[in-house]
Amino acid sequence: MKIIAPSMLSSDFGRLIDEIELINKSNADWFHLDIMDGVFVPNITFGSPVLDIFKYYAKKPLDVHLMIVNPENYIDKFSSCNPDTITIHLEAVKDVRAVVKMIKNLNIKAGLAINPDTPIKYLEPYINEIDMVCLMGVFPGFSGQKFINETNSRLRDIKNLIESKKSKVLIQVDGGVDLSNVKELSKLGADILVSGSCIFKSKNPNTTIDSLKKESKV
Ligand code: DX5
Ligand code: ZN
Repeated sequence: MKIIAPSMLSSDFGRLIDEIELINKSNADWFHLDIMDGVFVPNITFGSPVLDIFKYYAKKPLDVHLMIVNPENYIDKFSSCNPDTITIHLEAVKDVRAVVKMIKNLNIKAGLAINPDTPIKYLEPYINEIDMVCLMGVFPGFSGQKFINETNSRLRDIKNLIESKKSKVLIQVDGGVDLSNVKELSKLGADILVSGSCIFKSKNPNTTIDSLKKESKV
């Protein structure tokens, strides 16, 4: 069974508590929370005050995706919302190993995200130390972007890498995931599908979540 993680960046922040409640009651599995700093990516989203709202109202695991430079300076602070997973970007840190350790020492699962133009082989040294790889299907920064088709072959490469290392790391695909590609990504080995605009810009988010869930059953 695949995990569907709605990206809350596409939700209506003016009705955030209702949107959280919608996901609580839906068949979705996790909350995906995108934190951007305007430095690593050309967009700024939210920080601790909004995470606190999720801590209080969300009844499913929080998957925090940090698109920020120097994430080591914020992990302690962001850990106070009791996230299940914190994901950092391979491209955003000097000492990946140290930051992964910092996350795991807080009893939080560590994810490592990789941009569409970063070679998959750069993941290799860390593949047995992390809990999740987050393969970006778009360049991070904005929701609602078009899925980059080369992501499929990169997913195949990650799957091979994981198998060759006998690693148990989960694969997440984030960005541009919708009803047109969720089945193929699931077949290729994605374990967690993040989807934002496809869910929240649809007429009936609950029905869309159910369809994503159904299509991902392979
Ligand atoms: C992109 C974010 C994604 C994004 C997903 O920078 O990390 O999580 O919000 O949104 P969609 O599914 O609309 O691409
Ligand atoms: Zn994300």
